[in-house]
Amino acid sequence: DVVYRKFGGCNTVSIIDRYITKSKINIVIKNISHTLRKDFFMCGIIGYIGTKKCVPKLIGALEALEYRGYDSAGVAYIKNGNVEIKKEKGKIKNLKDTLDMDVDAYIGIGHTRWATHGEANNINAHPHKNGKVTLVHNGIIENYIEIKEDLKKKGYKFTSETDTEVAAALLDELYSKNSDMVKSLHEASKIIRGSYAFVILVDGDDNIYASRCASPMIVAIGNDGYYVASDVPAILAYTNKYMLLNDYDIVKLSKDKIEIYDKDLNEIEKEIKFFEGSMDAATKGGFEHFMLKEINEQDKVFKDTVNYYFDGTIKSLEKSFSYLKNFKKIDIVACGSAYHTGVVGKYLIENYANIPVNVEVASEYRYKKCFYDKDTLVVLVSQSGETADTLAALRKAKVDGITTMAIVNVVGSSIAREADYVTYIKAGFEIAVATTKAYLAQLAIFSLIALYLGYENKNINENEFNELVKEYNNLPALIKETINNDNYSTIADKIYDKKQIFFIGRGIDYALSLEASLKLKEISYINSVAYQAGELKHGTISLIEKDTPVIAISTDDSLREKTISNIKEVKARGAYVVYVTNETPQEKFYDDIITIKKIHPILESILTIIPLQLLSYKVAKDNGCDIDKPRNLAKSVTVE
Ligand code: M6R
Repeated sequence: DVVYRKFGGCNTVSIIDRYITKSKINIVIKNISHTLRKDFFMCGIIGYIGTKKCVPKLIGALEALEYRGYDSAGVAYIKNGNVEIKKEKGKIKNLKDTLDMDVDAYIGIGHTRWATHGEANNINAHPHKNGKVTLVHNGIIENYIEIKEDLKKKGYKFTSETDTEVAAALLDELYSKNSDMVKSLHEASKIIRGSYAFVILVDGDDNIYASRCASPMIVAIGNDGYYVASDVPAILAYTNKYMLLNDYDIVKLSKDKIEIYDKDLNEIEKEIKFFEGSMDAATKGGFEHFMLKEINEQDKVFKDTVNYYFDGTIKSLEKSFSYLKNFKKIDIVACGSAYHTGVVGKYLIENYANIPVNVEVASEYRYKKCFYDKDTLVVLVSQSGETADTLAALRKAKVDGITTMAIVNVVGSSIAREADYVTYIKAGFEIAVATTKAYLAQLAIFSLIALYLGYENKNINENEFNELVKEYNNLPALIKETINNDNYSTIADKIYDKKQIFFIGRGIDYALSLEASLKLKEISYINSVAYQAGELKHGTISLIEKDTPVIAISTDDSLREKTISNIKEVKARGAYVVYVTNETPQEKFYDDIITIKKIHPILESILTIIPLQLLSYKVAKDNGCDIDKPRNLAKSVTVE
């Protein structure tokens, strides 16, 4: 508790790192780090000050940040010298419908919320105002009840259930004393425990103020003004020039200048970065949904990811992956779909590299007793690189002195920055909440790892390696063909109104079933379960009745006969069976078939997942679901 308070309550990893070198205190920090460290990065925030009307700018930015949550949205702007607040429950579109987009205001802030404190309604929506301070917030103030009680005694009143309104009141109290928001933010950082990124308007003041602790924030420079935002996508429609903020930095944006102060209130200069990626990701490019667009990008994503690490020679793989040879065991840790790629990775690495692989869900791993040692490599898989549980698992391994490697999409994300080794997938921005192209790119990385270690272990000989090089080169075309070769709509039409859908497979096909099932349920809201085909008869088969859809995956020749027997078992009980396979069956034990081209087992899962992604997409579409933003979800899950 002493350590926790001494460091301002914000026990970020930088603090852990800084003090970890000081011998005695080391153990104390190690013990508290797993329990107290929290990152709450959900919600998106934006501020704009400039020569253009601010509301369209704020809304554009919020739309780009909607992946961080969409329970409610709000803006505040200065009109005729007064702060006006508009907020609305639900997606940004709801807010937009109530706004005058042409309002004569040039300074404003905005927020899109993923509810943590209090239900998703208009009262709890941001911005929150208390006294002279209007504020949007991303994070969680852990000691807000304590602060609230204290402020109540001083006469402050609260209308919402949020911790954010308490922060507004606290800053109002400090500001009424200091008449200086920079100083007030500095003082608030000593009182607040938890995480925050604040963007603030003050009555009677034509500036925007911002500060952060453990929640991300950038400052961006446009031709017509300045921005603060949670993340780069928010500002890409306006500018590609931005600066990263550190914990406790305080920003003051005026019409003609940016001032940034560090934790000791020294004015500092920041390096200007230029985002060089493509902005195409922010648009649907003619597709009806981002998910469909991203599925269609997978041939390119595969090519970009593979070509980055592999030029057809073992030397190129050696350059990126030689350190892997130092480990005798691998723990793969991740959440959701990233966990599912880990399950595929386990089969590939164990088969080809002869290394035991343990795959665990990060939210369990971070709290369990781990039997890792210096010979273990902990591999964290994460598209966003910000998933709270995966990040916590990484930090746990690091504190215990275990080597870590991250497979990440978002460059510079927390997991990428903190892991000992990083392998970036080259998926580009993924906007749809349901991951597709990042999942496929993660599979591509696991295939390369298996190829490299398999070759080094002599499980893959020169001939097989050369054949595989050809297959890697041909795969983008096959991916495209599989996407276009669409007979999935007719199958979707037969199952879209069912109450539950089963996916079964054995071995690596079971690993794919897990992902296929998650994809289906998260976007179509149909209950779906993935089962090892041989396990069904131990209980679950009692759920099979006439017309229950069972999607059976079989690409592994060595397990085929067994899987077919299991298919016959469900068929005998009336199931409607879709057989997903790379063989031409000799008999008809299924109702519908999806055939995938037969390729090397190291790559087969990459092709097999595509029809399953498209099937989920079409089922969700038949049900009229909000495919890119399924209910209750957010793209980056940065809460525990
Ligand atoms: O950003 P991450 O890869 O760490 O995210 C992990 C999961 O939250 C994510 O894969 C989630 O399961 C997706 N919505 C699945 O489509």
